[in-house]
Amino acid sequence: MTCTVIVGGFFGDEGKGKIVAYLAVKDNPKITVRGGVGPNAGHTVVLNQKEYKLRMLPSAVINYKTSLLIGPGVLVDPNILLKEIAIFDAYKRVIVDKQSGVIEEKHIESDRGDSYLQQRIGTTGSGCGPANVERIMRTAKLCKDIPTLSSYIGDVPLIVNQSISRGETVLIEGTQGTYISLIHGTYPYTTTKDVTASAICSDVGIGPKVVDDVIVVFKAYVTRVGAGELLGELSQEEAEKRGWLERATVTGRTRRSAPFNFELAKRAVMLNSASQIAITKFDILFPEAKNIKDFSDLPYEAKKMIEKIEVETKVPVTIVGTGAETEATVDRRREEGFLS
Ligand code: IMP
Ligand code: MG
Repeated sequence: MTCTVIVGGFFGDEGKGKIVAYLAVKDNPKITVRGGVGPNAGHTVVLNQKEYKLRMLPSAVINYKTSLLIGPGVLVDPNILLKEIAIFDAYKRVIVDKQSGVIEEKHIESDRGDSYLQQRIGTTGSGCGPANVERIMRTAKLCKDIPTLSSYIGDVPLIVNQSISRGETVLIEGTQGTYISLIHGTYPYTTTKDVTASAICSDVGIGPKVVDDVIVVFKAYVTRVGAGELLGELSQEEAEKRGWLERATVTGRTRRSAPFNFELAKRAVMLNSASQIAITKFDILFPEAKNIKDFSDLPYEAKKMIEKIEVETKVPVTIVGTGAETEATVDRRREEGFLS
């Protein structure tokens, strides 16, 4: 694999962080680049029983040999970014594009203080929407204007394209999910930008021809935070009974849940030109799948569901998450002939 784009296929929180972390350890990419909206994202990575939460840095942070880039399309909250750089001691391997937009205190205040955004839409309150408004009005500050970020500033599209030209392994990490895309999602219950694969490419400054693979990530069931339709939504009691009840990384809100939706999955494959599917949390649906690494060891029902997803979407399920740990992953890419 050379250039791979990872995107969410449902409403965000599909477990992209875990998949990116796995690929970062397994494929040892030279660079990872964050696309997507900004710090409204919350990615969880578990390595050696330690849990890490990320809102700005790419989830590949756990591979200390990988450079961590943030594309010009991504909004940066300097406070959150600097904190994460310190936590991960990542001073030497972070590059933020000079043109990335800046989230200021006033954006957070207006995101949290607006009753339409808070009560009707249920935003994360991270200031992303109001900062994107300013970007469109062309009044926003860019990262190159912020002294505290000066040692991290670079030309991310140039670095990414040069790396791809050299044939290096590059991971492009999308955030949010297809159905909270401003353009393709369940408007108005969406985030404030497109977040499908084409938009993620634009965020980091690459064109579609340099992308080798698009991995769309689905969870074994569907969850959503904030308002908006969710077909087949379970009651909180039922979700709890099934072990599907989750809490949001950024806001701490309870996530709503529903069974895996094949129609949404098919459309997400189409909208993202997905060439591979990764499924996460298979151990929640099939407890005997917990921590399994070989496809052949998966329980019969789990294999049947994978087969059904492949038949319906016509795309191979190459990666299956079987636990929170980065290593708890079934990787079928060799079997499918994706990796030589
Ligand atoms: P905003 O992006 O903070 O403006 O929030 C708009 C909607 O998108 C709300 O329903 C949020 O809960 C949802 N949202 C934004 N980012 C994420 C994410 O990373 N995961 C899940 N939901 C998100
Ligand atoms: Mg999340």
